[in-house]
Amino acid sequence: MAQLAHRAPVTTPASTYLIGVEIDPATGEAAPLQKYWGPRLSVEAARQAVTASGGPATPQGARRHVSSFSAPVEVEELLPVDGGKRWGSPSLQVSFDHTRSLELRHAGSSVHDEGAGAERLDVVLRDACHPFEVVLSIRAREDTDVIERWTTVRHLAGAEPVAIGITRLDSGSWFVPDASAYRYSGAFGAWAEEFQLQRGPLPVGELVFTSRQGITSHQANPWVMIDAGEAVEEHGEVWGVALAWSGSWRLTTTHRPEGGVAISAGFGHEGLRWTLEPGAELSSPPVLGLYTAGGFGAASRSWHDYTRRHVLPVTDEERPVLYNSWEATWFDVTEAGQLALAEQAAAIGVELFVVDDGWFGDRDDDTRSLGDWWPHRKRFPNGLRSLMDGIRGLGMRAGLWVEPEMVNADSELYRAHPDWILRMDRRRRDEKRQQLVLNFARDDVREWAFGWLDELVTELDLDYLKWDMNRPFTQAGWPELGAGQDRLWIDYTRNVYQVMAQLRQAHPGLRIESCSGGGGRVDLGILRHTDEFWPSDNTDARDRQAIQHGFSQLYPPNTMSAWVTDSPNPTTDRLMPLRYRFHVAMAGVLGVGGDLTTWSAAELAEAAELVEQYKSVRRVIQHGRLYRLAGTPGRERSAVQYVLGDDVVALVYNPASDAKRGPRRLRLAGLDPEARYEVVHGGDAPDAAPGRLVRGSHWYGSALMAVGVRPAAWEPVGADYRSDLVVLRRVRA
Ligand code: DGJ
Repeated sequence: MAQLAHRAPVTTPASTYLIGVEIDPATGEAAPLQKYWGPRLSVEAARQAVTASGGPATPQGARRHVSSFSAPVEVEELLPVDGGKRWGSPSLQVSFDHTRSLELRHAGSSVHDEGAGAERLDVVLRDACHPFEVVLSIRAREDTDVIERWTTVRHLAGAEPVAIGITRLDSGSWFVPDASAYRYSGAFGAWAEEFQLQRGPLPVGELVFTSRQGITSHQANPWVMIDAGEAVEEHGEVWGVALAWSGSWRLTTTHRPEGGVAISAGFGHEGLRWTLEPGAELSSPPVLGLYTAGGFGAASRSWHDYTRRHVLPVTDEERPVLYNSWEATWFDVTEAGQLALAEQAAAIGVELFVVDDGWFGDRDDDTRSLGDWWPHRKRFPNGLRSLMDGIRGLGMRAGLWVEPEMVNADSELYRAHPDWILRMDRRRRDEKRQQLVLNFARDDVREWAFGWLDELVTELDLDYLKWDMNRPFTQAGWPELGAGQDRLWIDYTRNVYQVMAQLRQAHPGLRIESCSGGGGRVDLGILRHTDEFWPSDNTDARDRQAIQHGFSQLYPPNTMSAWVTDSPNPTTDRLMPLRYRFHVAMAGVLGVGGDLTTWSAAELAEAAELVEQYKSVRRVIQHGRLYRLAGTPGRERSAVQYVLGDDVVALVYNPASDAKRGPRRLRLAGLDPEARYEVVHGGDAPDAAPGRLVRGSHWYGSALMAVGVRPAAWEPVGADYRSDLVVLRRVRA
């Protein structure tokens, strides 16, 4: 009979996460188990739940099909280790000299009040014979249903010498309760096609989402949501797990043949090995878990709230309307050219002007100068100060593009420090986009990067950095470290975080955008040090709708930079009305990235009006609760809606006039059914036919949600790419 050494309910506003440490009386081995994760329970009910789910008096594994060939209870373990009667994908794999196996004993558990409504539970485990300690930490906060978990391992000092190697250290494993079927949701993609939402049956077996690139990657984003196949946008139970890490990662979803699903996530990918010297410890990044009964929409809103409150370095500000020069001038950055754009940008209401790639070294194309971070000698012989002053003179803030982790072979930096890159003895130095990766794990590289960035921001009084990273790792070695060189996969990312943190500390007004050839480094780890993401290099508004849909599953609108660029679009060649392009970009942090010097007076006037409209609703868009309405974005009639206090904003899209599918009426969500709402802006309703959003008219919340309205953009006959901005305000009696 197993004994229960520790049982603890972890409660959030709407959920309970119950764990118990079971001790096998025959072996003394401890297994911290997840006993329950679902709707919030009272303390008494939680106590019953432990017993009902098997509880202390039940032998391990008796709750599900078991034989001498399996130990299915490992699916419920908080951190199934490689060792003992386990054959699943281990969350912790450790070797002691030449033995790769763990046998853990419970060494105590403690609860810590961390203040500000946060409580942390630590479960301490020690190996039965080696000087090795594991601490499982779980943090719950009173204002969010997101639970944070992480793992710390220690080589305890003072015991007999043993070489400890870690080949897997996950932040935690989460158990999704038994159901007859499961479905997974995740975001996958490629360059210029990031965040494609995928949802499908979860097969029995192991499903691995991973990046081996040293960055988060375009191919998969580090989160998964599981439901029993019944959840929809605004209804149903959803269990979500997200990893807050910006280097290589691995998230394994195990659907066991005996039933039950485990999701284990952590940094690094297979094959890496970290050694732990005596006295040393290694901590994983946080993995976050969320349970909601309110469908995928409620899950997203909880992730957004959590991110805005507990992840972002600056929580409550409104992001400025940005201009970025990349698609207008590419590498051809000159003072006159940028100021010509800046004048137009200021005239349409832009508040922050960012000069992209091409301002430094001898950078005329992508073959040279990364690493040489001084003003382009021919184009800016007197430096960048006068350009930046010119931008500020037009009433805008000023920002610059940088790519600190990279070097071109054709650069003064590389000629001076050929040893500073990721490299392996007797191996090629493969280039991608003609560039090599600096070994940011090195302290000298980190110090160099902070040094020039700090100087640049100081000298130019920069308000904003777009921090780019345009290729994955190859030949990722650090020969000087010999057997210990795999630590670069962790230290690199930590040092990127550290440089960003140091910069923010030195320049509290500085804001940073995380870019990696578009959305290659979008995650909740980098977001502790940055303010916005550049989700994709694809600025085609129609493609962007799908990208924004996937992005919004986890990340809030105030982190989603979106530019209006030219038509035809430089990436896809697609033609699209300016209004549609604006309405798509207004769904996040509005930016402009087109060549404004080629826009007609009418286009500039329309742009100015749309920027003005955006400013009047941006607080609601950036900080409100997001509802994704109607059909498939970019394919059918769809809308995104935001609610903040009494204010309601909806952006309504109809990409194809011949779209036969999708709803005809727009049914809003998240309103007070009893209240009345006044139409402040109804889009372009041409007449007052029933259902039209006529300015000044009043609607009951219940009617708006149940019956719906007829936005002009959704009328059956009309051009392609029609869109509306709808603004409503609750009428206070
Ligand atoms: C990739 C980024 O995603 C683009 O927006 C642009 O900054 C280029 N790099 C510049 O090289």
